[in-house]
Amino acid sequence: MTSPLPFSQACENNKDVILKVLQVELQGYTRVLEIGSGTGQHSVYFAPNLPHLIWQTSDVVSNHSYIKAWHDAYPTTNLRAPLAFDLTCDSIPLTDNVRDSYDAVFTANTFHIISWSLVQTLIELVGSALPMNGKLIVYGPFNEDGRYTSESNQRFDLSLKQRDAASGIRDKEDVLTLAKKHDLQLSTQYDMPANNQILVFQKRVQT
Ligand SMILES: C[S@@+](CC[C@H](N)C(=O)[O-])C[C@H]1O[C@@H](n2cnc3c(N)ncnc32)[C@H](O)[C@@H]1O
Repeated sequence: MTSPLPFSQACENNKDVILKVLQVELQGYTRVLEIGSGTGQHSVYFAPNLPHLIWQTSDVVSNHSYIKAWHDAYPTTNLRAPLAFDLTCDSIPLTDNVRDSYDAVFTANTFHIISWSLVQTLIELVGSALPMNGKLIVYGPFNEDGRYTSESNQRFDLSLKQRDAASGIRDKEDVLTLAKKHDLQLSTQYDMPANNQILVFQKRVQT
């Protein structure tokens, strides 16, 4: 008997609205690295709906069996098996040692889980790995002007910090300032359901 696939209800709820943004933002892009692929549910939905590009999953190794189980259940030719990527010790995982082998990076619901120091690492690594005009697309909740955007986000932030004091919803302004330092300029932002947002950064050298 096979065990049931690991399941995230949040992924089921948000996959359609995220896909609609990706279909716009990733037109003309060819190779996407997903950081923190989680269960792998997003990847099996996004890859077949973005057939013009390669979707490369990655995560800490302890999640790989989940991601592989979803890939086995829903195989797609443009979907790649997870690469080991732990922000605490690794650099951007490459399959072929080509420095700019990704022209886009997607990450969902990671910035409020990993510590601020690891958010800094992620942005620094992505900023140096992407080619000019490459995109970093980040989905999740953010605070604005140092304030929660909803009571539910405030409750969520409290629960995150009770579990891990280093977790927490990040201030969008801090993320934007940090990204700018690494040549990642905010190009578009989308308000998403359930008080989430998508921030799209594009690599451009500051003039
Ligand atoms: C809340 S889950 C989000 C998973 C998925 N992207 C989603 O939206 O459902 C946070 C993800 O961050 C990953 N993560 C946590 N610490 C990490 C680290 N040090 N390096 C890389 N990924 C990490 C976890 O393994 C997990 O996949």
